[in-house]
Amino acid sequence: MTLSLTTATQMWGPAVFIVFFVGAIVIVIQAFHFLQFLWFYLFEPSSVRSYLHGPAPYALVTGATDGIGKAVAQELFAKGFNLIIHGRNEAKIQKVVEELKAQGRGDIRYFIADATKSGYNFDQLLEPFHDLHITIVIHNVGGNYMNEGKIDDYSAAELVELVNWNVTFHLLLTRALLPQLRTTAVHGPVIVEFVGSQVADGPMPSMVVYAATKAFLRILARGLNTEERFWGTPSGVRFAYLAVGGVSSAGNPLTVSATQPTAADFGKALVEKIGSSRWNYAPYLPHAIMGSVASWFSDSMVDRFVLGLTKQMHEDRQKKRLHS
Ligand SMILES: NC(=O)c1ccc[n+]([C@@H]2O[C@H](COP(=O)([O-])OP(=O)(O)OC[C@H]3O[C@@H](n4cnc5c(N)ncnc54)[C@H](OP(=O)(O)O)[C@@H]3O)[C@@H](O)[C@H]2O)c1
Repeated sequence: MTLSLTTATQMWGPAVFIVFFVGAIVIVIQAFHFLQFLWFYLFEPSSVRSYLHGPAPYALVTGATDGIGKAVAQELFAKGFNLIIHGRNEAKIQKVVEELKAQGRGDIRYFIADATKSGYNFDQLLEPFHDLHITIVIHNVGGNYMNEGKIDDYSAAELVELVNWNVTFHLLLTRALLPQLRTTAVHGPVIVEFVGSQVADGPMPSMVVYAATKAFLRILARGLNTEERFWGTPSGVRFAYLAVGGVSSAGNPLTVSATQPTAADFGKALVEKIGSSRWNYAPYLPHAIMGSVASWFSDSMVDRFVLGLTKQMHEDRQKKRLHS
């Protein structure tokens, strides 16, 4: 190698040496990233049980009456966490509480709030839980109802509701919870996780605002991680952003496949990775592989792919309408 490199350098000058040198560095960095990826998904032990500290640890899950949120709540309850669950429909949430109680032992509390609405007093909403030892918060509530058209096809009120649903609710709930979480973090680890979407890495036309709200959550998680370490002694409260791909759920009844798991399977994967070493990751391996492959391409290539995909989706929707 040294000989051939020396000979090549003599023949073509220092340019070839620089190409070899930079190439070797790039290969080493990529190999390191690949090994980190393998370690994270295949070997890193789950840390979710380290959040079972204190006499009665609680996990708070928003949007927990169906889909991913319900699956996550079920999984955490089975692991021994008490629960505070959130929904918008009292009868439905009471049914979920009964279902959960039939499956195990533990305390389950709930609160009701329509996340699309503004004007809640979050301190008041959380008052019944102010003395509970909350160690895990999963901000799961959210979604998208803008599947057709451009942003100016929707009213200002509809856009505000979409932002409330995916951003403001999480932001204000986190703000109200933080003092209590910091107190809990004195006794052991505390984590707040935001359920995001891979759409944020390739915003599809007609999902633009939804994608932007998820990107907001990613920056929020990253910034709060540094903020909690900046003012005085680090508080010990950590934040994570979860890049979620397709999941077959009540709100998004996709055909189940290797890349589109059921909400139950996805919930299991999400809970296993709670509190893991990364702050920004896809909890489900096939989503992580898809995200990783997408990151090899330039933004313009991803955007071109996304345009084609959206066109196909709209055509399929149109055909379904014609046949029904
Ligand atoms: N499914 C996917 O393919 C996918 C992909 C990427 C990201 N995500 C994200 O994953 C999260 C959960 O999605 P999902 O597919 O599991 O949704 P889902 O099946 O529709 O379930 C959403 C949960 O949130 C509740 N909810 C909905 N709107 C609400 C509101 N305005 N106020 C209070 N609660 C409300 C629902 O209550 P009800 O039971 O009353 O409806 C339900 O408990 C969302 O943040 C979504 O953006 C999902």
